Amino acid sequence: MFAQKLIIPALAVVSCVAAQTASVCSQATATINSQADATAFASCSTISGSIVVSSAASGVISIDGPQQITGDFTCENAGGLTSLGSTTLGSIGGSFTLNNLTLLSTLSMTDLTSVKTIAWTALPALSSLTFPSTVSSATSVTISNTFLSTLDGINLDTVATLQIDNNNRLKTFSTQVANITSAVNINSNGNSLEVSFPNLIWAANMTLRNVSSINIPSLATVNGSLGFYGNYMTNIAAPNLTSVGSTATGQGSLAFVANAKLANISMPMLATVGGADQIANNTDLTGISFPALSIVGGAIDFSGNFSTPSLPALTNVKGGFNIQSTATIDCTSFQAEAGSGKVIQGTYICKTTADATTLGSSTTTGSSSGASSTSSKGAAVSYGVNEAVAGISVLGGLLSMLL
Ligand SMILES: *[C@@H]1O[C@H](CO)[C@@H](O)[C@H](O)[C@H]1NC(C)=O
Ligand SMILES: *[C@@H]1O[C@H](CO)[C@@H](O)[C@H](O)[C@H]1NC(C)=O
Ligand SMILES: *[C@@H]1O[C@H](CO)[C@@H](O)[C@H](O)[C@H]1NC(C)=O
Ligand SMILES: *[C@@H]1O[C@H](CO)[C@@H](O)[C@H](O)[C@H]1NC(C)=O
Ligand SMILES: *[C@@H]1O[C@H](CO)[C@@H](O)[C@H](O)[C@H]1NC(C)=O
Ligand SMILES: *[C@@H]1O[C@H](CO)[C@@H](O)[C@H](O)[C@H]1NC(C)=O
Ligand SMILES: *[C@@H]1O[C@H](CO)[C@@H](O)[C@H](O)[C@H]1NC(C)=O
Ligand SMILES: *[C@@H]1O[C@H](CO)[C@@H](O)[C@H](O)[C@H]1NC(C)=O
Ligand SMILES: *[C@@H]1O[C@H](CO)[C@@H](O)[C@H](O)[C@H]1NC(C)=O
Repeated sequence: MFAQKLIIPALAVVSCVAAQTASVCSQATATINSQADATAFASCSTISGSIVVSSAASGVISIDGPQQITGDFTCENAGGLTSLGSTTLGSIGGSFTLNNLTLLSTLSMTDLTSVKTIAWTALPALSSLTFPSTVSSATSVTISNTFLSTLDGINLDTVATLQIDNNNRLKTFSTQVANITSAVNINSNGNSLEVSFPNLIWAANMTLRNVSSINIPSLATVNGSLGFYGNYMTNIAAPNLTSVGSTATGQGSLAFVANAKLANISMPMLATVGGADQIANNTDLTGISFPALSIVGGAIDFSGNFSTPSLPALTNVKGGFNIQSTATIDCTSFQAEAGSGKVIQGTYICKTTADATTLGSSTTTGSSSGASSTSSKGAAVSYGVNEAVAGISVLGGLLSMLL
């Protein structure tokens, strides 16, 4: 009797603790306002649900104990938060969102390797990551408007979308990824960002702006568009690139626009471009050569101050052909390829001009400048230009093919 009296309350206490633990570890959204709230999760190995670190949180918040959060991990507008971390968390099943954390200077996740989505914006005090285990798996990564000078700690095996912009101090970005299955957009990260994709084999869409160097030694295929705009490098080399876009659909363009120092484009294996092949406003580019380029599903549109382009392998340009240079060029061989049933099927323009214009420069009207020599279809020419230089989310200067 005496023993039972002792045992019953003891069991009641145990089951009460167990029930509390289960509910702490499993709730749709748990809110952390303080370190004391964070410590309440210490005994959870998995948090089934989402965690929100509230805007009231300040100082140091460390969520130690849990190895996994199945939902999202979110912290926004916590102006007093200086440090956020975990010594145990290995994976976040949903989004890892950090936004507008003005004092956050330490982000330390000792064990983190896997996150579904990284979405970090407006982190003006965060200069580096402390991710010693390295995040290698993420579907989507957006890092925007931070003070980060390095993204060491993120080195992805796989990723679908990569958006890196407005990180003014960022100096290098390198990731081992072999495939980028949706898109990569890198822009406005200050003027000395060196980008390297040493193992990248294919990417769905790729747009680089304001980058000082690009290393893509293994890139073989860009399924969609590949565009270089407003970059600072003197060289762009893609030694293994064979195709951009799809000639079957006529989609996916290659564009080099307004790269002020660009002097050498080297794509020795490039054989097909599904959409347009556009080169414009690269003031230092004095020569253009695509030795293997055979099929262009859209238009060839080159303008600038360059000598006669070398395009020895062309077999089929389904769209127009507009080459205008302020240097003297020899159009004879191209002229012979132009016309119905020949290599160049669309409207043909090749000339030395005082003021070279690109198809893309006359965006909204979509008409070409007074052409000196056009094909017989010349009168009602519409290039169907869909110029995309202005928007960061839009890809490539797409010049659809001519009728
Ligand atoms: C950013 O957070 C601060 C609090 O630190 C808040 O006052 C401000 O309104 C937030 N800014 C935005 C754009 O939400
Ligand atoms: C990348 O794509 C290639 C070709 O589709 C495939 O063989 C390879 O397994 C992919 N690699 C990864 C890491 O997904
Ligand atoms: C590339 O981006 C364009 C425009 O966003 C999209 O329509 C297209 O499907 C993408 N290509 C691939 C291969 O994902
Ligand atoms: C270039 O492509 C070839 C043939 O696909 C491949 O053997 C080679 O490893 C690639 N080079 C690089 C640097 O990836
Ligand atoms: C892109 O092209 C590669 C190589 O041809 C192919 O393996 C991959 O499946 C394509 N990806 C998409 C999204 O079409
Ligand atoms: C960044 O590139 C864009 C073109 O995409 C250009 O308009 C802009 O001037 C460049 N910014 C700087 C700072 O060079
Ligand atoms: C252009 O770059 C390629 C590869 O980087 C190099 O082999 C070639 O010599 C360069 N051409 C000129 C004219 O500098
Ligand atoms: C074209 O480049 C040459 C040097 O290669 C230079 O002398 C000439 O002034 C340039 N023309 C224009 C219109 O920029
Ligand atoms: C080239 O620069 C001129 C003058 O700044 C501009 O009008 C034109 O739109 C640019 N072309 C492209 C394709 O960006």
